[in-house]
Amino acid sequence: MAPQAHPANASRPRKGGQLELEIDSLAHGGRGVARAGGYVVFVSGGLPGDLVRAEVTKPKKRFAEARTVELLRPGADRIANTCLHEGEPCPGAPWQGLAYEQQLVEKQRQVDEALRRIGKLDGYELEEIVPAIEQWRYRNKLEYSFGPGEGGAALGFHASGRWDLVVGIEDCRLASERGNAARNELREWARSEAVEPYDRQARTGTLCNLVVREGRRSGQIQTRLVTTPKRFPKPPVDLHTVVDAGSGGSDGPTGALGEEMLREQLCGLDFEMSYNAFFQTNTEMAERLYGVAAEYAGLSGNERVFDLYCGIGTIGLTMAARAGEVWGLEIVPEAIADAERNAERNGIGNARFLAGSARTGVRPLVEQAGRPDVVLLDPPRPGLSQKIVRRVLECEAKRIVYVSCNPTTLAPNAAQLVEAGYTLRRVRPVDMFPQTPHIECVAEFDKA
Ligand SMILES: C[S@@+](CC[C@H](N)C(=O)[O-])C[C@H]1O[C@@H](n2cnc3c(N)ncnc32)[C@H](O)[C@@H]1O
Repeated sequence: MAPQAHPANASRPRKGGQLELEIDSLAHGGRGVARAGGYVVFVSGGLPGDLVRAEVTKPKKRFAEARTVELLRPGADRIANTCLHEGEPCPGAPWQGLAYEQQLVEKQRQVDEALRRIGKLDGYELEEIVPAIEQWRYRNKLEYSFGPGEGGAALGFHASGRWDLVVGIEDCRLASERGNAARNELREWARSEAVEPYDRQARTGTLCNLVVREGRRSGQIQTRLVTTPKRFPKPPVDLHTVVDAGSGGSDGPTGALGEEMLREQLCGLDFEMSYNAFFQTNTEMAERLYGVAAEYAGLSGNERVFDLYCGIGTIGLTMAARAGEVWGLEIVPEAIADAERNAERNGIGNARFLAGSARTGVRPLVEQAGRPDVVLLDPPRPGLSQKIVRRVLECEAKRIVYVSCNPTTLAPNAAQLVEAGYTLRRVRPVDMFPQTPHIECVAEFDKA
């Protein structure tokens, strides 16, 4: 919801101050919305109906941000948190207090609200959200942080809004039991070898992060340890990335200590992916998502399809049997190399992949391939810039299928497409991320 004007007589909450707040709704991004003396306050950890004591973290002119420090009275619809770490609700599952049915209702509402309020759109069909198959233990990738703990390094998530505090995790209920075991094994190794967590402030220590990725169908677990350049005993992981943490830390060299590629099956095809290539984090729901995208694409077997933001080629390759030809474009060269190998591995001969950015790569793609009949878009959370939407418009495709992980950036992109002559025909949310406010949806645009 949009922040409201601040009345002249309301005193601005100060940073660090505490307020008693009743949460009345949920904002995009998942925080609770409350009002304090005319201010709108966005409260992390607050759900509708809750009365909370919250600490102001960012007082701004027209609204403030705050984090719940105590739940004084739970809302009537709240359900008990079941994913707790050191007694605190898991920062990775901030909506776990909301019954799953309500999470779905809220996500459906937020997609509609974004399109109507931000995009000023109407007349489209909003199809029923596809619920998740698994409400817990669905994530195939999790990134954990190291921090100081009792008895050696702690390994878990940063407490919400606290970069200096890592909450140690024994069982993350978003990850599988096998993924949890892999993380705990690495923590025990760090403790037994007395390898220190990296301390950002003091700039001392070694261990930064651990990324655990899982092939849900292949049964493979891949671990990647991220450390500073300090020397330490050989870790029991598959990959090791060294970062120059002192300078703010960009990725350093990655060394393979075990299996380098992660394998997975999706929609009946075999895929392999590099450690830095994107892969949908909910394998089972990725199939549902791609199913909706394929239905919206409505391919008859002859179309030229552009798969922009193609990653390792998954969407385009799963549609290739129903298309004339598929052309993928993606900025990460390793992902493109993976996509080419994935096409070959699955005996798909009508798909080509090019490395490049959507901003500069679409025009050369049209020159090489010709104009597409269907464009698939699956950008990261910021969505498309206006310029990239213009490049997409130049393709003059009959249909655009937009897979979005952020309805608030889909909305302005959709408005620009509609302004240029496309009709937003239908939209369908797909719940890829239960217990969290993250929303995925698919939208179909047709040219008149
Ligand atoms: C949400 S992922 C989708 C990947 C793939 N479609 C899938 O379903 O697995 C977005 C992809 O866009 C890529 N990307 C980010 N910025 C890009 C850009 N400017 N041009 C092309 N690709 C980009 C990312 O590397 C990532 O692979």
